[in-house]
Formats: sequence, C-alpha cells, structure tokens
Amino acid sequence: MEKLLIEGGHPLEGTVQISGAKNSAVALIPAAILADSPVTIDNLPDISDVATLAELLEEIGGRTELDNDTLVIHPEEMFAMPLPNGRVKKLRASYYMMGAMLGKFKKAVIGLPGGCNLGPRPIDQHIKGFEALGAKVTNEQGAIYLQADELIGARIYLDVVSVGATINIMLAAVRAKGRTIIENAAKEPEIIDVATLLSSMGAKIKGAGTNVIRIEGTEHLHGCRHSIIPDRIEAGTFMILGAAMGQSVLIDNVIPDHLESLTAKLREMGIMVEEADDQIFLRTSENLRPVDVKTLVYPGFPTDLQQPFTSLLTQAHGSSMVTDTIYNARFKHIDELRRMGANIKVEGRSALINGGAKLQGAKVRASDLRAGASLVVAGLMAKGVTEITGVEHIDRGYSSLESKLKGLGAKIWREKLSEKELAELKNS
Ligand code: EPU
Repeated sequence: MEKLLIEGGHPLEGTVQISGAKNSAVALIPAAILADSPVTIDNLPDISDVATLAELLEEIGGRTELDNDTLVIHPEEMFAMPLPNGRVKKLRASYYMMGAMLGKFKKAVIGLPGGCNLGPRPIDQHIKGFEALGAKVTNEQGAIYLQADELIGARIYLDVVSVGATINIMLAAVRAKGRTIIENAAKEPEIIDVATLLSSMGAKIKGAGTNVIRIEGTEHLHGCRHSIIPDRIEAGTFMILGAAMGQSVLIDNVIPDHLESLTAKLREMGIMVEEADDQIFLRTSENLRPVDVKTLVYPGFPTDLQQPFTSLLTQAHGSSMVTDTIYNARFKHIDELRRMGANIKVEGRSALINGGAKLQGAKVRASDLRAGASLVVAGLMAKGVTEITGVEHIDRGYSSLESKLKGLGAKIWREKLSEKELAELKNS
C-alpha cells in the first residue's frame, strides 16, 4: 500500500490534458457485452476501475486487449456466468454488468456492487426497470439474480433521477422486443456517450440527454469503434486546483459546456475563467469571495465536485455553505480538512465553511475517491507536507494524477507505507 505526499504552497502553471470520462468508461465497457463482434473503445482513462471491469469481462469469457488508451473487447465467446465475487465489490459500476448481461443472455447473477461509501446507495430504480422489462429479480445472500424468458419493452418512470438506473435500463432495453420509454431519465453527458456507443452498435435510441429516452429494441448489435468524452469531473478538479493555486493553468481536451455550473461559481468567487472550443484557462485571485453551492442533477453543480470545491472554499474571505442534495453522507473529507486547520461545521446535508483558514500539512486519509481529490487540493494549498493514505480510492478514478500535477509544477510523490503505518491503518 502507498501514500501520496504533497509539499504545498507551490504555484501551478502550464497545460494539463484531460483523460476520457471515468463514469462513461465504466458503462461503455460492460455495454460491449451486448455486441456480437469486437468493440474498440478509445480515449480510456488509466484508472483501476477500467482494469477491474476488463477483468470482469474476462471472467465471463470475453477477451480484452489494452494498448495505451485503447481497449478492444471481443464479446463473441462470452457466456452467462455468476459474478458474486470480490471484483464486483471493488466498484459501484459493476452494476452495469446486470443490464448488459440481462440484455444479452436474459439472465445474470451478480454480487451487490461496492464503490465509494457515500451513505445509502440503493439500486431499487434499476430493479424497477428490469422488472418492468419482464425480468424476475431476487436478492439472495448478497447477490442479485435476474432472469427473463424474454424482455419486452415498457414505459418506465424513474421515481429518482438516477444516472446508473437510466444507463442500466438502456443496456437491457436495447435488446428487448419493442419500444421502451424511460421517463424522468437522468441527463448527464455520460448517458449521451453510452447512447452514442449503443447507436454505433446498431441500437435505436432517441432522446438521450433529455428526460425522456425512447428505445426500439433490436435483436442483434454489432461491434464498433468509439472514443470516450473528456472527463468533466477530472477537468473540474483541475479547474478548482487552478482557482486555488494557478498562476496560469490551461485545461485542454475538455467540453466547457459540461462545466457551466462550476465555471459560474468560480466566476462568482472572483476567478477569471476563459473558455475556448475545447480548452479552459484560469488563474487564482488574491481575493476569493465566499459562495453558496447546492449540488443537483446535471446540469446543476455536480456532487462529484462538491468535496474538492469545499477545500477551495476554506480560502475564501467569508463564510460559504455547501449543500449536497444527492448524497447525504458525502462529508467524510471534512474531518480530514479540519485536521489541516479548516474551520467547517456540518449540519445535516450542509457544510458551513468559515473561510480564511491557514491550512497546514497533516497526515490525512482519503475515505473515497472525491474525498481524495479534496485532500489533494488542500495539500497543494497547505503549508508543509501533507501525507494522504487511502490512495487506492484516488487511483480508481484519476488518470495519472501525480504526473499531471508534476507537469504543472506541483511537488507530489508516492511512498510505500511502512510496516508501522500499515499496522496503524489496520487498527484505525
Ligand atoms: N438512487 C436511488 N435509487 C436508485 C438509484 C439511485 O434512490 O435505484 C439515489 C442515490 O442514492 C442518490 C441519487 O439517487 O441519492 C443519485 O444516484 P445515481 O443513481 O444518479 O448515482 P450512481 O449512478 O450510482 C453516478 C456516478 C457517481 C455520481 C452520481 C451522481 C458512476 C459510476 N457513478 O452514480 O460518481 O456521484 O452518478 O451524479 O457513474 C464519482 O465519480 O465519484 C461518483 C460517485
């Protein structure tokens, strides 16, 4: 196991290239199961979630070839095989294996998904969708069993706007008989990306990116080549870093429209943000103004940027309020930020941040992926050295984070945990 060390206080300057979107990649890889011939996915991020999903595909007889940021998936010899094992628990997105396997084989057995612990993360809407398509779904000893004689298109209203449920139902419905209509669908750009891949495979999907998605099922889907959209959350994290420490930071290979909510908040704080076709330029300001932020479904402020943004707000001149309406327990980073000198109170779904804190390097732990990002932001702003454990969470979702930060002039490196640190971690 490793820890990340950051010597804070160094300004950031230069250009950073954004990788392909994690939350697209983790749906596109399972989607390839649905094809009858090879699917090639370009612009993959170099993250452990991608590697885990490729391993899951191999467990069901798929062959995968990874070459730099391109993955070729051969689904021809895949078979329906129970997946109630350790790998499934490593990431939340293993739930997309349900929709894809149900679509292709009309059955699946899969362990309950893992991923970041952000409080309760039910999958009732996914199951509601599968059942509406004609599947029998049971939960036995921590595994979900799905089985259908045939899948028949249906009208499905989501009670909760859910990215995962929208994509999972799309995956099953493209191979169902007849028309499926998903109402109150999520509108995130990653949903459009998945719909684009499925359409290139021969699926008939209309309305992805709006709250009503219409799908005409087809019997066969073929292979294709698809390039993943840029990761808006990675780009947003670098925007926050640029706002915190940027002498001049250019973010390249980004879709500025995907980040309008963050851009608006940064401008409200007094940061100059300039947008070009696929680039965003920004630099820090001496006088950061406090702002209130509420996370919402897309195109609202993303919950995935709430944690790193909270770190930035510790440097504003005044009090800010951050409210997470998507996850009620996404505040595990706050105790760690307090260890570094931040003055933050959590009440219910909100954090009240008293700005102007003098952050000091400290030993902190990343409890989840974006908590890790928030500690990296804080570490770069703090005086002295910050040591972050729980790096495996960061590696799940940020592609080459250290080398990208080093390229901007950050002092960041990795070390192996000593026996003593490992023992301390076990006992904590
Ligand atoms: N929800 C339900 N029932 C369901 C599904 C969701 O009540 O059946 C609730 C959730 O508990 C949550 C809300 O609906 O309160 C939204 O959840 P959603 O299903 O949209 O989240 P997800 O699909 O599980 C994806 C991303 C998350 C991101 C959320 C929200 C992936 C693999 N994960 O999760 O990303 O926070 O959408 O935008 O796409 C991250 O990247 O760090 C991350 C956690």
